[in-house]
Amino acid sequence: MRILSGIQPTGRFHWGNYFGAIRQYIALQDGHEAYYFIANLHALTTVRDPLRLRRATLDAALDLLALGLDPDRATLFVQSDVPEVSELCWLLMTNAPMGLLERCVAYKEKKAKGLTADAGLFTYPVLMAADILAYDADLVPVGEDQVQHIEVCRDLARSFNHLYGDVFAMPRAQLMESSAKVPGTDGEKMSKSYDNTIEIFEEPASVRKKVMRITTDSRAMEEPKAPETDHLFQLYSLFADAPRREEMAALYRRGGFGYGTVKKELAAVAEEFFGDARARRRELEGDLERVEAILADGAARARRKAAQVLHRAQQACGVPVRSR
Ligand code: ADP
Ligand code: TRP
Repeated sequence: MRILSGIQPTGRFHWGNYFGAIRQYIALQDGHEAYYFIANLHALTTVRDPLRLRRATLDAALDLLALGLDPDRATLFVQSDVPEVSELCWLLMTNAPMGLLERCVAYKEKKAKGLTADAGLFTYPVLMAADILAYDADLVPVGEDQVQHIEVCRDLARSFNHLYGDVFAMPRAQLMESSAKVPGTDGEKMSKSYDNTIEIFEEPASVRKKVMRITTDSRAMEEPKAPETDHLFQLYSLFADAPRREEMAALYRRGGFGYGTVKKELAAVAEEFFGDARARRRELEGDLERVEAILADGAARARRKAAQVLHRAQQACGVPVRSR
C-alpha cells in the first residue's frame, strides 16, 4: 500500500495541523510505503514573497522531522524538487473539464471572498492530482476539506485511462480520524486564516500567553460545567493522557473552579507533550546540512518513481520524450 500526502508551507504549523494531519502522517509511516511532501508550488498561489516561502519550506521540513517523521521509513521531499509532477500536470490539464474545476469548493470560496482568481488557483486541483498520480499512490490521508480534490483526481485519472489505456493507479482518500476540528483560541476551528492559532514550536511563554487568552463562557466558578462541549476541555484532551483527562472531566462536572486553572494545566501539558520534539528541532536547526541531505535524498527517491509514471503517461498519449 503506498500512502502519499502533502502539506502547504504557508506559515508555521499549529496544533490543528498536528492533531489533524501530521500525527496521522507519522503513524502511517509504519507498515506502509509513505511519501510526504511540502507543497511549495501550491503555496505559491498565496505566498508571493520568495524569502518567506523558502523559509517556510525549510521550517516545514524541520517541524515534520522534529515531530517524528522518519526519513528512513518515509520519503520526505519538497514538491518543486520533482519537476516531473509539473509536466504531468500539463498532460492532465489538457483533459480537465472547466466545469469540474469550477465546482471545487476551495476555488469557489476564495473567489466569493473577492480574491483575484488566477489560473494557478483555478487549476490547483489538477496539480494536486498530478502530485498523487505521479507516485501511483493508493491512499491519500487528508482532512475533510481536501476530499473533493481527491474526487477530482480520480475523475481525471479515470478519463485519462479511458482515453489512453491503463496509465494511472486509482487512489482513494483516507479521511483522517481526528480531522475532528481542533478549536482555536476563539473556539472556532483553528486555522491560519482565522488568526486563532497556537503554533507547535512557538516559545513556551508565548504559548502560555495565548492559552490564557482562550475565550471561555462567563459561568461562575461554583457552577458545574459540561466538559464535552467546552473547547478548552477539548484542547486539554488532545494532550492529556486518559487519567488526567478523567480527572479534569470530574473537576468540570463538580464545578467550583475558574477557567484559569484549566488554562494553566493546558499550557503545562502542551509544553510537556512537545518537549522532546522541541529539543529535536533545536538540534536539527543546528545541522541544516543534514536536513538538506534528507530532502535531497527524498527528492531523488521521489523523482525516480515520478519519472516512471510520467514516461508511461507520455508514451500513452503520444508525446514521448526522446532524450531521457
Ligand atoms: P490552515 O487552516 O491553518 O491554513 P491547512 O489548510 O494548511 O491549515 O491544513 C493543513 C492540514 O492540517 C490539513 O490536512 C487540515 O485538514 C489540517 N488541519 C488544519 N487545521 C485543522 C484543525 N483546526 N483541526 C483539524 N485539522 C486541521
Ligand atoms: N491541497 C492540500 C492542502 O492544502 C495539500 C496538497 C497538495 C496535497 N498536493 C497534495 C494533499 C496531494 C494530498 C495529496 O492541504
